[in-house]
Amino acid sequence: MEITVNVNGQSYTRDVEPRMLLVHFLRDELGLTGTHWGCDTSNCGACVAWLDDVPVKSCTALAVMADGHTVRTVEGLERADGLDPVQQGFIECHGLQCGFCTPGMMMTSRWLLDHNPDPSEADIREAISGQLCRCTGYENIVRSVRWAAEHEAAAEGETVTEDTSVEVQA
Ligand code: FES
Ligand code: FES
Repeated sequence: MEITVNVNGQSYTRDVEPRMLLVHFLRDELGLTGTHWGCDTSNCGACVAWLDDVPVKSCTALAVMADGHTVRTVEGLERADGLDPVQQGFIECHGLQCGFCTPGMMMTSRWLLDHNPDPSEADIREAISGQLCRCTGYENIVRSVRWAAEHEAAAEGETVTEDTSVEVQA
């Protein structure tokens, strides 16, 4: 079945099997291996990408469901003027260890900040609750997202509430 999907602003047309999962379409057909495939049970969330601006576990969607739609992957996170603040936050606060969960964590975090620019620690933990970090690095992931929120707000000249429950490393 021929499908056309806009991924990270670029249109791709491919002939795929109707049973192909979106995660395999991204990785195997388009070579976008930043979206990870971490389980067979829809539990880990390493495969999170955006489908029409909503984070989805791409192992739970068929590639044909993306026909005529837009997809954003971690490869599309970087901005024209540099790294997305979420990416920078993960660097600054050591938000990753092995890095396997990181692309999915960052895609969910970007979506969170787009909808809640000043999330509390609880907000962040709830947002990423469908994703597993095998390295158990949740503390630093939360710090990374808070770093991004605070630096994004500072860049935009806004004031955000300092979340004293999370120690943000500058
Ligand atoms: S690969 Fe584990 S939830 Fe999608
Ligand atoms: S950093 Fe290793 S799985 Fe999250």
